[in-house]
Amino acid sequence: MDIEKTLQALTLEEKMKLLTGKNNWENEDFGGKLPSIFFADGPCGLRKMSVIDDSTHKNTAYPTLSMLGCSFSTETTKMVADAIAEDCIENDVDILLAPGVNMKRSPLCGRNFEYFSEDPVLSGELARVYIEGLQERGVGTSLKHFAVNNNENYRFYQNSELDERTFYELYTKAFEIALEASPWTVMCSYNLVNGIYASENPWLLKGVLRDKFGYNGVIVSDWGACMHRAKALKATLDLEMPHSQASFGELKQAYEDGFITEHEIDNSVRRLLELIEKCQAAKTYRKAQKTKEERHKVAVEAAKDCIVLLKNDNSILPLKSGSDISVYHSSSSSFYGGGGSSHVETENKVERIDAVLRKRGENITAYTKHYSPSGTKYSIVCVGNSPEIEGEGFDRENISLFSRHNEMIERCAEDNPNTIVLLYAGSAIDVSKWIDKVAAVLYVGFCGEGANEAVADILFGNVSPSGKLAESFPISLADNPIEKEEEYEPYVYYKERFDIGYRYYDKHSEKVRFPFGFGLSYANFVYDDARLIKHTETDYTIQFTITNQSAIDAKEVTQIYVQDVYCASERPVKELKAFTKTLLKAGESKTIQIKLDRKAFAYYNAALKDWYVENGKFNIYVATSSQDIKAEFAVDIQLDEYTQFTAKNTKLL
Ligand code: BGC
Repeated sequence: MDIEKTLQALTLEEKMKLLTGKNNWENEDFGGKLPSIFFADGPCGLRKMSVIDDSTHKNTAYPTLSMLGCSFSTETTKMVADAIAEDCIENDVDILLAPGVNMKRSPLCGRNFEYFSEDPVLSGELARVYIEGLQERGVGTSLKHFAVNNNENYRFYQNSELDERTFYELYTKAFEIALEASPWTVMCSYNLVNGIYASENPWLLKGVLRDKFGYNGVIVSDWGACMHRAKALKATLDLEMPHSQASFGELKQAYEDGFITEHEIDNSVRRLLELIEKCQAAKTYRKAQKTKEERHKVAVEAAKDCIVLLKNDNSILPLKSGSDISVYHSSSSSFYGGGGSSHVETENKVERIDAVLRKRGENITAYTKHYSPSGTKYSIVCVGNSPEIEGEGFDRENISLFSRHNEMIERCAEDNPNTIVLLYAGSAIDVSKWIDKVAAVLYVGFCGEGANEAVADILFGNVSPSGKLAESFPISLADNPIEKEEEYEPYVYYKERFDIGYRYYDKHSEKVRFPFGFGLSYANFVYDDARLIKHTETDYTIQFTITNQSAIDAKEVTQIYVQDVYCASERPVKELKAFTKTLLKAGESKTIQIKLDRKAFAYYNAALKDWYVENGKFNIYVATSSQDIKAEFAVDIQLDEYTQFTAKNTKLL
């Protein structure tokens, strides 16, 4: 398609009509005059809804983004995105409405399971490869929800009020990183940001997303997020979704009133035509290659990489095949995902762990929704949250399990010291009632349709667990710094600034049960020979050797944190700047190198409106969780004095 010619051939009225959808999931095509694009939800699989009757096509359910976050693996994340692309290609979907990179400000947010992490670098890096994974296969993405959408209860009218540093360092950092993959669309959020709806916020969309972050693709509204079409156009929002009756009238009136110009309309139409063209071009080369069974296998493989071993007293796990086991289910359904627009209806039956184990020849006694003593050597108790507890449009009331789930664990643990808990949830859970009474806990999270096949492999040691928490687990809700929004207030002020997740628990370690980045393995890893290689004042290579001193092949996640020892501005205790996941065969050693650049030391300076490295001392930590440091280096950065501003008190010292 010749974009300019097509643009010129459209009447002004047609151009205005193009700026809202034709229906719930497609763009306006003027009865076939233009090609149409089909949008459908992700992110943990494809949820394609019919434009005729809203029925949902069945597809593969992969681990949720919260669990891909726990994989700390760019490889696994890309593998999942590639498989989802296959589902999209097979179902004629052009744009997957994913990934979401909003920060987990509070563990109560109903949609935390749809987001990667409480940390922007982890979220941004994984989102970047997720986008690449889909787009390399000719399926567009929608990076969402831009921006500062961190709870669900009042998402349609809440004003998220925050200062500039917090905005750039925490709430838009993951977007900034993920934008490097050039998502074909970015979706604005429902809420207001600093007093103006995201959809019509010129500072947010034009000033930050386009001018500062350099985004020149299509900005699409969240479904129904456009409050006033002409104001949204002015802010450079291109496509309102889904179809809105009011849209054309609002644009026409605003044009006649001189509020918007044809030039502004053309800019949005041009971006939309470019997107249509991209989707058309993709149709010529994209092709699904994997069978459904192969996609299911991807779901299983990914789940193996995500599940986190939280407790393993006396190395009770892995179990030996042929062990005497009973399984207690707190619910009759399988937990594999949360509720709302990301919910994937699966084609494959999601099997419960007892069924999976039986198929593998294990002798299992299973009980559902009730406990009775079984006298077996080991007891596995399955507990968790259903899509009614964790889902879109509402927040959780608390972070506890239903009392009947807790009671089932407690009763089982009273009878059996070898109680193993499988925890299925999309966000942090208060485990206080029973954590000291049970022998082992596997955080399965919402791991999609392959969850229990992966669990079986981990339980019996075919695979060593390698997930690490991408979200801190506080001891109780009261230990979390973010106040619960009891009732609607017109604004939520982010007064805690950087104090979310581990940035807070680093100052209050007594309040965290399982810290960010934590997860056990069956293997024993030893770190040595850590070195720091300096290239420039702000460019370093960190080198270290990891040895797997055990008889099982296993993967190890290494996290690099940076601490600014002294700075004129407030800084978190330390921040994650890089991470890597390494497969080590039994007994194997590998030397790893990780690079850090200027970004690792800079903070957003509101006076400069830019990132700034203030000269002075920094610590670099090689760690296996936010609270388990294996090696550290001190560096003293001394950039040219003319890059610097006079630091506090230097004249007086
Ligand atoms: C959600 C989006 C989703 C859209 C389309 C909205 O309610 O916030 O994440 O992509 O619906 O289903």
